[in-house]
Amino acid sequence: MCLSLHQYYTVLIIIALHYVVKSGLDAELYYVRNDLISHYALSFNLLVPSETNFLHFTWHAKSKVEYKLGFQVDNFVAMDMPQVNISAQGEVPRTLSVFRVELSCTGKVDSEVMILMQLNLTVNSSKNFTVLNFKRRKMCYKKLEEVKTSALDKNTSRTIYDPVHAAPTTSTRVFYISVGVCCAVIFLVAIILAVLHLHSMKRIELDDSISASSSSQGLSQPSTQTTQYLRADTPNNATPITSYPTLRIEKNDLRSVTLLEAKAKVKDIAISRERITLKDVLQEGTFGRIFHGILVDEKDPNKEKQAFVKTVKDQASEIQVTMMLTESCKLRGLHHRNLLPITHACIEEGEKPMVILPYMNWGNLKLFLRQCKLVEANNPQAISQQDLVHMAIQIACGMSYLARREVIHKDLAARNCVIDDTLQVKITDNALSRDLFPMDYHCLGDNENRPVRWMALESLVNNEFSSASDVWAFGVTLWELMTLGQTPYVDIDPFEMAAYLKDGYRIAQPINCPDELFAVMACCWALDPEERPKFQQLVQCLTEFHAALGAYV
Ligand SMILES: *[C@@H]1O[C@H](CO)[C@@H](O)[C@H](O)[C@H]1NC(C)=O
Ligand SMILES: *[C@@H]1O[C@H](CO)[C@@H](O)[C@H](O)[C@H]1NC(C)=O
Ligand SMILES: *[C@@H]1O[C@H](CO)[C@@H](O)[C@H](O)[C@H]1NC(C)=O
Ligand SMILES: *[C@@H]1O[C@H](CO)[C@@H](O)[C@H](O)[C@H]1NC(C)=O
Repeated sequence: MCLSLHQYYTVLIIIALHYVVKSGLDAELYYVRNDLISHYALSFNLLVPSETNFLHFTWHAKSKVEYKLGFQVDNFVAMDMPQVNISAQGEVPRTLSVFRVELSCTGKVDSEVMILMQLNLTVNSSKNFTVLNFKRRKMCYKKLEEVKTSALDKNTSRTIYDPVHAAPTTSTRVFYISVGVCCAVIFLVAIILAVLHLHSMKRIELDDSISASSSSQGLSQPSTQTTQYLRADTPNNATPITSYPTLRIEKNDLRSVTLLEAKAKVKDIAISRERITLKDVLQEGTFGRIFHGILVDEKDPNKEKQAFVKTVKDQASEIQVTMMLTESCKLRGLHHRNLLPITHACIEEGEKPMVILPYMNWGNLKLFLRQCKLVEANNPQAISQQDLVHMAIQIACGMSYLARREVIHKDLAARNCVIDDTLQVKITDNALSRDLFPMDYHCLGDNENRPVRWMALESLVNNEFSSASDVWAFGVTLWELMTLGQTPYVDIDPFEMAAYLKDGYRIAQPINCPDELFAVMACCWALDPEERPKFQQLVQCLTEFHAALGAYV
């Protein structure tokens, strides 16, 4: 393949793919422009939406260029030979013209089909020609009578989902549009208020921004004007400083990070889409999905690894995508046997971003615990108390490592842990959790969705986060373990939580939970952050308790 058409042609050739994006906007991708081949554009193996049967290419040449057009399809059972409305051989038109390629599925099987369109171009009947390869992928589905997918039907979960181009139903579209409009209005009002406030607080802000920038570190989100405004509003100098080195006060203002910045953060771990194969959907929310995926080794294509692949659907907003990428980086670069950080990302143009984490075959801890609860009804020995304490120790170990590294998790909960068949537990980031576990997050009057029932009082009231507030969340996680995934404070209104905690109320001791263990939880919920145990102490005391349990068996 030649590098530049310029070497051979002194003619102007333009070949572009013209496509209509979901939103109705027209878009064009140039493959050849002013004789220059865009290898970047050609390198895409673009995914054709399942419901799209026609691709339109625009082309023209200023002088005589001959072409030969051919197709290859890797699965004729799933797809017919592509049809075009131009001849297989001829001259590139001198005027801007369109040709159409038809990619029709046979409807006989479910399969992802690879399509190669090859265009050989020759100028002035010379011997030299340029080969252009256009690669496409399309998900073909077996045609059945419209099967309604029910969440409980195991068989339907085996169908291969199109991760990116599943068509949103009209009702969800309407829902998203209305939510979007509401958010825009709220956001606008918030901006106006913030601007007004900033005007009156400029001075305080100036003093404050210095401390804000000096206290933020690699993993924290960049501070924004909103942050400083909040900081000015809440006199944090009055709060007691714990023995943890830093008490960082941050706001999760992800709107301050653009999608481009979020993508830049994962550029160094970006891999090609070709290396990932998606299998079953493990978890699905309104805009996010977690797949069981296969990751092909970079050097040896025969070597494969299983993986979790987090991605978003078509209707996900830019903020949601940005949030997934940003939150996925929370544990990046940390190495501990009880942590599961992001390993790769896929941020190719024209594809929804994907985040890749190592696989843990029993999946999400919260879902696993709930499963245990169902099984427990028939088989009380399904999972022992000792196993649960062992899981808690592992979580405390991972958190202890985070505290030593001065990393604040801010959203520790069973839903943000994963487990495998050896009962090894790993803490992971909270990317997509808001979408996958919407009942665990609440908005308290503002636009921010918080894990209210897992938050320490100082985090709820003053937006203060520290390793001590992570200890609080650990106490709640321990409670989740002992109750096999119940929701804490289930009958307390999220708006009442702060008042309820201030009054000294906490979650009740679960049935069958030994007093010693409940005492550990209760310590984690001390009002004063300094009175809460450190993770290292929690590891120690849980280990002793675990040993004692073993001695009784
Ligand atoms: C064909 O390509 C060769 C190099 O591969 C070059 O030397 C030659 O000039 C080209 N011929 C024409 C007609 O462009
Ligand atoms: C284009 O050229 C290549 C290389 O000679 C050849 O293998 C292929 O069959 C040609 N394709 C078409 C569509 O003629
Ligand atoms: C091929 O189809 C497209 C779209 O239907 C049309 O715009 C174009 O003129 C057709 N080209 C030819 C050569 O018939
Ligand atoms: C579901 O799958 C099982 C085997 O896994 C099969 O026996 C059963 O017939 C399937 N049911 C449907 C509705 O396809």
